[in-house]
Amino acid sequence: MTEEYAGRYLGKYRILERVGRGGMAQVFKAYHPDLDRFVAIKLMHQFLAEDPEFKTRFRQEAQNVAKLRHPNIMQVYDFDFDEETESYYMVNEYIDGPTLKNLLLDLASEGKRLPLAETVRICRDIGKALAYAHTRGMVHRDVKPANVMIDADGRIVLTDFGIAKIIGGSTGLTASGAIMGTPSYMPPELGLGGTGDHRADLYSLGVMLYEMATGKLPYEANTPLSVVYMHVNDPLPPPSSVNPDIPRGVELVINRAMAKKPEERYQAADEFVDDLQDLGSVADVAAPRAAAPKPATEASQPPAPPAGPPPADTTRPRPVPEAAPRREPAAETPRRPVALYGIVGLVIVVALAIVAVLALGGGGGDGAAGGADATATARPQRDADGSSNRCA
Ligand SMILES: Nc1ncnc2c1ncn2[C@@H]1O[C@H](COP(=O)(O)OP(=O)(O)OP(=O)(O)O)[C@@H](O)[C@H]1O
Ligand SMILES: [Mg+2]
Repeated sequence: MTEEYAGRYLGKYRILERVGRGGMAQVFKAYHPDLDRFVAIKLMHQFLAEDPEFKTRFRQEAQNVAKLRHPNIMQVYDFDFDEETESYYMVNEYIDGPTLKNLLLDLASEGKRLPLAETVRICRDIGKALAYAHTRGMVHRDVKPANVMIDADGRIVLTDFGIAKIIGGSTGLTASGAIMGTPSYMPPELGLGGTGDHRADLYSLGVMLYEMATGKLPYEANTPLSVVYMHVNDPLPPPSSVNPDIPRGVELVINRAMAKKPEERYQAADEFVDDLQDLGSVADVAAPRAAAPKPATEASQPPAPPAGPPPADTTRPRPVPEAAPRREPAAETPRRPVALYGIVGLVIVVALAIVAVLALGGGGGDGAAGGADATATARPQRDADGSSNRCA
């Protein structure tokens, strides 16, 4: 609770108030008196420290992330362990502004969408942040609107670099076998229990572009596991079927970024950024009022189409029903990262894959089956690369 912390010191930082809570941490606004600087302290939930390898991963990854210096990446200043709460914490640049997730929710509640030019600008800046980090060997693995913030000057900032690796290590699995990631933005290879590479981030950015350009997530279902399954198997619903006004160029970028197979996607974030750059004029024509730096209230597009039946909120990581009970007691808004239990998920996905392959009879099929076929051929490779070992 925030009252317990207000006025307390974490190292040199005096806690002022709690500004958020996610699946892995609470976030506090704090003040460094000597430097006269406000910071955002991410206090990792205590249960994480129970994983014996967490400490090593935390130090290693925090050190790596602290080396990143890019205008579109949240700066990490410091990190340490708090003896009193037995929790690790990271001291970050304080961002005075909303998350992209909240911005999109606010717009949706008014029946608006982000102007296309602004959408393109945000994705381009996140793409630049990814290009910078990827060339330094860092993969984010949890790119999503909740991890993008927009400061008072309209600067786009990608947060939580390294967190997925700190929690999931190099296997991408938590200590309890949960897959790291957020179902709605999770590329097929991560849903299948693989570790993925930098192209996983480009897929997630493609999902964000889809969501912002159409006002709808590409895959929605009643359970997080179903969403993961759809990312693996279902053909992408054409963005233009959701928003007929979407420029063809934007649709092509989404299709490429969200290819099921990593080798069919953009191979580097720079390529993604270049294509978005080329779209600039298209987007400006489509949304001429959108050029101003601040994104919040300028939505000039027609309202997003009405949503269907309310799907599960798979933009927030949380346990699938089959999951083992979480170790931490439920908080007022439990938003646990990555709560898909890999082994259960993998078994189900593999079982469904076998059914799909049998149904296809080893050969041709109609259009819908073609989509399933493409992923069915990819799965045996995944199963063979060791993920089935975890299953056995
Ligand atoms: N650097 C920051 N400056 C200001 N506020 C921040 C900062 N980082 C995070 N916050 C606030 O804290 C909230 C919680 O962030 P956190 O990263 O812990 O959770 P999340 O990303 O929303 O969800 P999850 O961790 O479950 O994926 C954010 O929604 C944001 O409002
Ligand atoms: Mg976050």
